[in-house]
Amino acid sequence: MKITDNKLYLGDIPVDTIMQEYGSPLYVYEESVLRSQFRKLSAGFPRGLLEIHYAMKANSNPSLLRILAEEGSSIDAVSEFEVRLALESGFEANQIIFTGNNNTLREIEFCVEQNVSVNLGSLALLEKYGERYPETTVSLRVNPGIGAGHHSHCITGGPDSKFGVYYDQIETVLSLAKKYKLTINGIHSHIGTGIFSAEPMLEAMEMILDVAKVFPDLQFVDFGGGFGIPYKPEQLPLDMEDLSKKMTERFTNFIQHYGRDLLMKIEPGRLLIGPVGVLLATVTNITNTPKNSFVGVDTGFNHLVRPTMYGSYHKILNANRISSTEKDVVVVGNICESGDILSRSGDDFIRKLSSPAIDDRLAFLDAGAYGFSMSSQYNFRPRPAEVLVHQGQSRLIRRAETFDDLSQCFVDFN
Ligand SMILES: Cc1ncc(COP(=O)(O)O)c(C=O)c1O
Repeated sequence: MKITDNKLYLGDIPVDTIMQEYGSPLYVYEESVLRSQFRKLSAGFPRGLLEIHYAMKANSNPSLLRILAEEGSSIDAVSEFEVRLALESGFEANQIIFTGNNNTLREIEFCVEQNVSVNLGSLALLEKYGERYPETTVSLRVNPGIGAGHHSHCITGGPDSKFGVYYDQIETVLSLAKKYKLTINGIHSHIGTGIFSAEPMLEAMEMILDVAKVFPDLQFVDFGGGFGIPYKPEQLPLDMEDLSKKMTERFTNFIQHYGRDLLMKIEPGRLLIGPVGVLLATVTNITNTPKNSFVGVDTGFNHLVRPTMYGSYHKILNANRISSTEKDVVVVGNICESGDILSRSGDDFIRKLSSPAIDDRLAFLDAGAYGFSMSSQYNFRPRPAEVLVHQGQSRLIRRAETFDDLSQCFVDFN
């Protein structure tokens, strides 16, 4: 992303040019940013110690998955269809870990049939798995009793979280493993998403390693994802250089005590893909009330739900006029709900925007993660197209949906 002549460019192409070609609204991803996010992250760890499993729930467009495959990423998948998509996007079965939750045995059977490793998240599932596949190898998600995240909906560790086997129930895991002659080859945890401080991550790491030491047949320990990215201008990024050093130190120390080499796995989603994407939209309306100036756009929480769902902040730029006289406005979508406000920051929603006018193009930044992948067809509106840009070239990587796409699952409909 760059600014030239007060206008926004993506992959060296003016936003207006991209939108004239592909329409509005539109998700646009920059290939160079994706490659550089992956490379920066891997460079922080010693070669051969770490395996990165991209959490494809953050964004599962196959063109983006292929870039990550080229960079050497593996995959964290959480549903049968994610597994299928990863396989069809060029990942080998042995590069995929399936960590679902509240799974049916059928989903697990699907993964086993595909030779994809399953990471079981409850004692009940461990029992079912043992009955179905005795004398096999499997890994286990553990809740380390610690959680963190940018919103309460996103905390996946601690006593209020449904995920994993609680760390104090490991004796039961050991006896189930014995009963069904299961080899536990990996211990996994993921404590939440959008985490900005190293402390809970390192604390959870300690807890997980404490659990891991009682399993003699491990091949890996997986510390999940959760690495936050700064959305607000004043937000300090998580110091990944420092965190990766500390994680490496702690893990190599553990390996020495464990007595043989193990792989460290992590499952970043947001960190890799969040800064890669923007959602572009067009101003369709400006409505003033005695209290507010509402700037209406042709997208809404059907395409970017994070502001409405979590009060999340996304920086908004007027791509036509990056800096000009600023106005206090509320940026709102075209969904028929008053909660469809895109300029949120917690409970606040007034945002300074550079002199907005009808037909201006707005860019919602850092929308690559949990943007398109959490989009819906609410109000019977289609999901937008997705475009990949790189060094002056643009490429459609998902077309916009049509009326037929939205209506094709109806029965008794023409
Ligand atoms: C099991 C698991 N791993 C990894 C992630 C990725 O998290 P993030 O995008 O914060 O890195 C998630 C997201 O919730 C997850 O549930």
